[in-house]
This record gives sequence, structure tokens and C-alpha cells, in this order.
Amino acid sequence: MLGFGREKDLIGLDIGSYSIKAVELKAKKKGTEELYEVKKIGYELLPHDAIVEGTIIDSAAVVETIKMIFDENKITNKNVVISVSGNSVIIKKISLPSMDTEELAESIIWEAKHNIPYPYEETNVDYAILKSSEYSEDKNLDILLVAAKKDKIANYSNVVNQARKNLEAIEVDVFALQNALDVNYPELSKEKTVAIINLGANITNVIIIEKNVPQLFRDLSLGGSFFTENISKDLGISFDDAEKLLKGLPVKNVEPERYEAILNLNIQNILEEIEKTFSFYEAGEKTERKIEAIFLSGGLSKLKDLAAKFEQKFNMRTELFNPFRRIYYDEKKFDSIYFEEMAALFGVATGLATRKLEK
Ligand SMILES: Nc1ncnc2c1ncn2[C@@H]1O[C@H](COP(=O)(O)OP(=O)(O)OP(=O)(O)O)[C@@H](O)[C@H]1O
Ligand SMILES: [Mg+2]
Repeated sequence: MLGFGREKDLIGLDIGSYSIKAVELKAKKKGTEELYEVKKIGYELLPHDAIVEGTIIDSAAVVETIKMIFDENKITNKNVVISVSGNSVIIKKISLPSMDTEELAESIIWEAKHNIPYPYEETNVDYAILKSSEYSEDKNLDILLVAAKKDKIANYSNVVNQARKNLEAIEVDVFALQNALDVNYPELSKEKTVAIINLGANITNVIIIEKNVPQLFRDLSLGGSFFTENISKDLGISFDDAEKLLKGLPVKNVEPERYEAILNLNIQNILEEIEKTFSFYEAGEKTERKIEAIFLSGGLSKLKDLAAKFEQKFNMRTELFNPFRRIYYDEKKFDSIYFEEMAALFGVATGLATRKLEK
């Protein structure tokens, strides 16, 4: 059987409410080490109202945008992995006594029915067994229970099918980010407690990973579109002008001090929400828990000095996440400035493309 046991090269397709990102990675082995190379990459903006509150409203626009990304970047591979997030996705960490696979499958259904705030019939449930913590003395299994509303899955699968791509898997944003961390920062992900904060347009994903084990995951209703909305309302300017200001571009007849004041209020709001999430994590267990590094990603992480504001607030090393840190790309084919500028946007897409599927 040709190709048996080899892994399929995949396209990570991150369908955000502001933009769609696609990256195709080629997996190669160097000894026991897994390495990746970027084969293709693409990015397109979506119309403002194509995806509203996590639902694809204008599927034709999303399908067209996906097709455009593939055509313009000559992506011929059709095998895509997408992700979902927001309040239609529930992730719970549960602990069960050690048991065989059959018993486990039954217990998972029971747990899902009791832990997920949606009717069981309306959700797709999946689970993963976490590596047991090195401190645990008992033989319990730590399990991640993931449930996604079926209508959400159908909503996102439809556009992929209509764009004539093969949907190979559906992931969750926060776990894609964890994959990207493992590939690009293996030393940190193995040894430290790291928080990744992916600041998008409507959703901010937060994941806290302690020595490779995900400990806390949140999708907060925060992001750049709330900034532009507030700026446009408070300054009485258009949405597009507010967006320009956010990206550091000049807009006529705007007092810089007024803009700075509104911007700071919005940043403070994000910092406070993140502080609550961190406190929740750090207060959660008997053993002392401390986050040791923060990574920022997503479009809003490009906001000037945001990492410095996080450093100040949390008194902790904060860096912009680079999903291409240990991923090779051919500088003859790609512009390295493009990669530097786009790095913030490709955390989820890159993590999706590193998923392993058998051919
Ligand atoms: N240079 C920049 N400076 C500040 N903000 C920016 C910049 N570029 C983009 N943004 C903001 O980032 C947001 C888009 O980020 P991103 O592409 O990560 O979102 P998304 O994944 O499409 O959305 P979501 O996942 O929340 O549905 C927008 O609100 C946009 O205004
Ligand atoms: Mg996003």
C-alpha cells in the first residue's frame, strides 16, 4: 500500500469573523524530530456581516473567499482542517477512575449528559485522555471532554463542502494554538506554564498550558471589533476610519488625545478580563500555580505596545507568538517580511495544519 503510514499534508483553514487564513504545511522527519515546511499560505478579509456572533450568515461570501484564497495562492491540496470556538463549544476537564475502553465510552456519554449545558442529542462529543500529571498519586484518568453544537459544526462544514474542499477534521481554536506552541516553542511548552491569548475580532481565546497539559480554556467575548465599534461611536466617525486608527493610520479631524483615551479604556477592559481568567486559574488548585510566560496572537495583538501593557499589568514576560518560529519557509518563494507581518494572524491556522492524519 503506497504511502501507508505516512501523514497527509494538510491545510489549516482558520475561518474567523474578520478574515480567513490558510496555510499548507509539509511534514518531514529529522530523526525523531517532526519538522514542517510552509508550502502555501493565503489570507483574505471577509465582509463585515458575513459571520455574526459566531454564525456564518452569508455563506456565499465565505465560500467565495475560501475559493479565492485557494485560487490566488495556487493551493491545489484540498484536504483541510478547520476549527470552531465560542459558546457553541464546551470543553470540560474531568477525572475518571481507570477503566477499559468500552466502559470509558459509556462513562463519557454519562459525563457529557451531566456536564454540558446543551441537550446531548444536539451536540457532537469527543474526548482526549491527558497524560497523567507527574504529581498525581492515584490512577485516575484526566480527560478532556469536548462538545460542539451540531448546528455550529454543520454551519462551518457546509462552507467547506460548498467550496469543494475535503473536510478532514474539525478542531477547537485553543487546541490548535496549543499544537502551534508545541511545534514552535517545545522547550517552553514542556517545562513551563504558558498562557496563549489569541485576540481576534469577536473572540479572544485563552489557553493556559502547564508542562504540555492544557489546564484552562476560555473563549471571551472580546476583540478588535469591540474596539472599532467603541471608537466609531465615541468619536462619531465611520467604522472604517475607526479601523484605520486602530491600525495606526492617520484619520483627519480626530484629536489624538481623545482617541488615545478611548483606546486605553478598551485595553484596560481586556487586561481586567484576562486578570480574572488568570486569577481563576491560579486559585483553582491546592498546589500553587503560577503562569510563567504570556504569548499574544491574533489581529489585535498587532496593536502598538500591547505586549508591554501586558508585561506591566502582570509583571511577566509577554511576547508576540510566532507560529513560524521553527517552521521553515523558502525565502526564494516567500517574502520574509510577509511572514513577519502575518505571524500574529496564523497561530490557529498553523496549529490546525500540524495535526496528524494517516493517509
Ligand atoms: N495592525 C493592527 N493593529 C491593531 N488591530 C488590528 C491590526 N490588524 C488587524 N487588527 C484587528 O484585529 C482583528 C482581526 O483579528 P483576526 O484576524 O485574528 O480575527 P478573526 O480570527 O478573523 O476573528 P474571530 O476569531 O474573533 O472571529 C480586527 O478587529 C482588526 O481590526
Ligand atoms: Mg480568530
